[in-house]
Amino acid sequence: MRNIVRFNHDWLYIPQAVDATTPDSHFESITIPHTNKTLPWHNFDDQEYQFISTYRKRFTLDYGINGRRVYLDFDGVMQATTVTINGHTFPEHKGGFTPFSFDLTEYLNAEGENLLEVRVDSNERPDIPPHGGQVDYLVFGGMYRDVYLRYVEPVHITNVRVKTFDVLTDNPRVEVDIYVTNQTSEKQLVHITTGLEYWEAEQLQTTIEASNEIKISVEIDWSDYPDIDYILWSLDKPKTYNLGVAVYSGDVDNVDTRKSDTSIVYFGFREAEFKDDGFYLNGEKIFLRGLNRHQMYPFVGMAVSERLQARDADIIKDMGCNIVRTSHYPQSKYFLDRCDEIGLLVFEEIPGWQHIGDEDWQDISLRDVRAMIERDWNHPSIIIWSIRINESWDNTEFYTKTNALARQLDPTRPTTGVRFFPNSEFLEDVYGFNDFTNGVLEPMESPWLITEYNGHMYPTKTFDNEERQTEHVVRHAKIQAQAMNTGGVSGAIGWCAFDYNTHLDFGSGDRVCYHGVMDMWRQPKWAGFVYKSQKSRDEEIVMEIATHWTMGDRAGGGNDPFYILTNVEAVDVYVGEHHHGRFEPAQDDFPALPHPPIKVTGLDLHWGGKFEALRVVGFVDDKQVAEKFIEADSIPRKLEFYAEDAQLRADGIDMTRLVFKLTDNYGNRLPYAIQPVHFELLSGDAEIIGENPFALVGGQAALFLRAGQTAGTVRIKASTPRLDPVEIEVELA
Ligand code: GAL
Repeated sequence: MRNIVRFNHDWLYIPQAVDATTPDSHFESITIPHTNKTLPWHNFDDQEYQFISTYRKRFTLDYGINGRRVYLDFDGVMQATTVTINGHTFPEHKGGFTPFSFDLTEYLNAEGENLLEVRVDSNERPDIPPHGGQVDYLVFGGMYRDVYLRYVEPVHITNVRVKTFDVLTDNPRVEVDIYVTNQTSEKQLVHITTGLEYWEAEQLQTTIEASNEIKISVEIDWSDYPDIDYILWSLDKPKTYNLGVAVYSGDVDNVDTRKSDTSIVYFGFREAEFKDDGFYLNGEKIFLRGLNRHQMYPFVGMAVSERLQARDADIIKDMGCNIVRTSHYPQSKYFLDRCDEIGLLVFEEIPGWQHIGDEDWQDISLRDVRAMIERDWNHPSIIIWSIRINESWDNTEFYTKTNALARQLDPTRPTTGVRFFPNSEFLEDVYGFNDFTNGVLEPMESPWLITEYNGHMYPTKTFDNEERQTEHVVRHAKIQAQAMNTGGVSGAIGWCAFDYNTHLDFGSGDRVCYHGVMDMWRQPKWAGFVYKSQKSRDEEIVMEIATHWTMGDRAGGGNDPFYILTNVEAVDVYVGEHHHGRFEPAQDDFPALPHPPIKVTGLDLHWGGKFEALRVVGFVDDKQVAEKFIEADSIPRKLEFYAEDAQLRADGIDMTRLVFKLTDNYGNRLPYAIQPVHFELLSGDAEIIGENPFALVGGQAALFLRAGQTAGTVRIKASTPRLDPVEIEVELA
């Protein structure tokens, strides 16, 4: 049988390259995920996390060895890893975004203590993708994803691949590829059972030569499962099914003595097709409306817990998107699992950014193609593999190889590659194009997909002036509208979901690209509501006012025009008691959008004139469905402070976001309320991560709370000058 032990606890860490002679007392105790250096959210030097560090763990084997193999599995370490176990050193693993393993068995002490040392090189080494050229993102450093110890029989399953066919017919087919390795020095008879939701349905026997791996393919006959309802995986109903595989070796027919290995994977039935006229999910044409995501967070780089990785999928779906691009690398498995669970399509990409290195570099990139696909091929949410280096020039030889490999590993999904110049060699199935022309869309090869727009063409901060934030809204809305209006475009994926840290060569000089429609803390800018307001009214009524309602922030004063991002049919606008007028969606300006922004004009408010509160009332079928106010005086009235989760696991790893805002009486953030906010951990076993006090800009931000390992109540207080402090509680269980 197999045992998998999460190996995230009881690690020691030192931010230096040391060997076994350095005493444990020189290290600090940490848990994984871990960043090699906690940083401010901006204004740091991107050299600060580029160094070699050492992780150490002393352990005894919970299960002994007993003839099994013991593997050390890493989900991802940034970015070159050298593992030493009891003095034996394995060759360095290069690359930070895909999993890798070491077979420790020969070097372990079955009974006594084992010493594991992991040397992590977090320098941006030119021999490892994405590095070698300039890169507009930071990868940070450290053991930032989970680690496991895996005990398996010498004959064991190495992967399971579920393929579905004819899913829109009455006769859907499931084909399962089971990869089994034999690490003994003898030929082995194996007995394999495969079953849906429960096991033991399909049975077969075969043999595997010594020191060999085989792939066995099994057809599942859907009619064997009359009790299971057949439900397609879709955006609204993302149904998945479990598939179990058991492999028996040794005395295969003797249930008491045979050796077994098992694996459960999940999959979904869905048909995703890019055609010349657009994208089809389960036979229905849908426009792909999406955002690019970097899996980067303030303070801790990429090292956040499962909960926060998964939460990003919810945030992007809640923002009205149906697709996310994992720009520009394979992202956390927790993020992808959540995309499957909630029905958010994924465009997944290999690590890279414009630069293609030498042959060795390209070999690592090909390895990344393989590792990404072999890790993720069962995710129903993933509809396409992006196997070109983002925005690189053509390279026939290299991209012929990446395409061939992707197609061989996964004949069921199309390939794509993202370019930023027209007439590029089209070796993939779908033409990915970054269109930074602000919406003058030229027909491309087909099928085609807009994979980025806006971004560096219009960086916008939550604390920029109103004109800029308004233009940010207009650009996102305009490009979405034009893409929908241009025949054949499968969709448009905006740059980008969240502001992110970057090198000095990019961004605003403070190591941030303010390209998000949300800030780094995942709090929305107005442009975010361009996406959210495209939701159907059945899902949610959305009505957000894109003005801070000040008299003199714009050139010349006033607020004219301002936009309301909404899916209601019409709004009434009041200034104080005065009914200014009724307004409807600006269909002519944003032709094909399901819910164009509403443009409010004709406000006869003058610089220095009398200024009163704004009230907007939204209507559907002439019934009032929404109402919003903005105070006229812009005085901070309230410190809002909350934890996104009321409960965390007391495991020393789990994290939540502590969100804070300075608002008027109606909850509208005040972008220029620039003042310190202090946080105090009053009681409980937890750590507040982030700058404290925090110099708030833009009126909204967040810190992180990491749970300790003692269950109980965590109480935190936030305070800021001249407003009532707020106390909150988070339960650790
Ligand atoms: C693109 C690139 C992205 C990001 C973006 C900014 O060229 O693919 O990674 O840098 O520009 O707009």
